[in-house]
Amino acid sequence: MNTHHIIKLCDRCYWDTTTETIKLHNENVPLTSNMRKVLKLLITNYNKPISSIDIFFHIWENFENEYKPRNVRNLISNIRKRIPCLSIVNYYGGSYMLKKNRESHPLFSENLIDILDQAQNGITISDPNQNDNPVIYVNHAFANAFGYTPEEVIGKNCRFLQGDDRNQPALEEIRQAMQAFKDVTVTLRNYHKSGQLIYSEVTISPIFDKKTHKLKYFLGIQKDVTSLQQLIQQIKGMV
Ligand SMILES: Cc1cc2nc3c(=O)[nH]c(=O)nc-3n(C[C@H](O)[C@H](O)[C@H](O)COP(=O)(O)O)c2cc1C
Repeated sequence: MNTHHIIKLCDRCYWDTTTETIKLHNENVPLTSNMRKVLKLLITNYNKPISSIDIFFHIWENFENEYKPRNVRNLISNIRKRIPCLSIVNYYGGSYMLKKNRESHPLFSENLIDILDQAQNGITISDPNQNDNPVIYVNHAFANAFGYTPEEVIGKNCRFLQGDDRNQPALEEIRQAMQAFKDVTVTLRNYHKSGQLIYSEVTISPIFDKKTHKLKYFLGIQKDVTSLQQLIQQIKGMV
């Protein structure tokens, strides 16, 4: 079983937390043990400045050593040479900080789907480049709210939740917004698998490819507003 934890540092550059090695373009980067120590310190504190003194004593642990900033400077400069894509910045002179792209954070490669899966609001992603814009991802909150499993929803267009209740003015708002690539928030009458009416506040947003700017997905966020709608109906009935 592969228990190695891999962190992406930059494009095609990965840190293996178990072996404390770096792979750049699939090749192991030769590192001295001091370089490895500094890298580990910077990676575990990414986006946080670490003072040169802290780095020095982290490596040359013996406090009787005289602090020599030049040793740290040289070490950092050698790391930069071996891994040019890494962005180790000098921070206010006396500190160093490993700056990573937002996308390089392990959150993006490993945990993002877990996070979406456990969110409390419904989250759906559809693929408008496929016939009839089917759902390609749905989180558990969405599936559970309507009594389905994610597998039962994937591949369908979300309109199946409306059942036969298709005469809803909000649907025209959705169609127009989607055609114009605009965000839209509406309240829809949807139906649980058991047939029970659920008022759902849905926000649909177009998601574009960052490079080509072409439409890639639609993101849907659903919130059950049944209690609120029932209250509104009651108040309307009173006046
Ligand atoms: C990402 C996404 C999520 C959607 N979520 C819902 C939803 O939860 N309930 C619903 O009734 N319609 C939802 N819709 C809207 C329908 O899929 C569809 O666009 C709407 O019914 C209007 O189009 P139609 O006339 O083709 O049915 C969603 C659409 C997208 C793109």
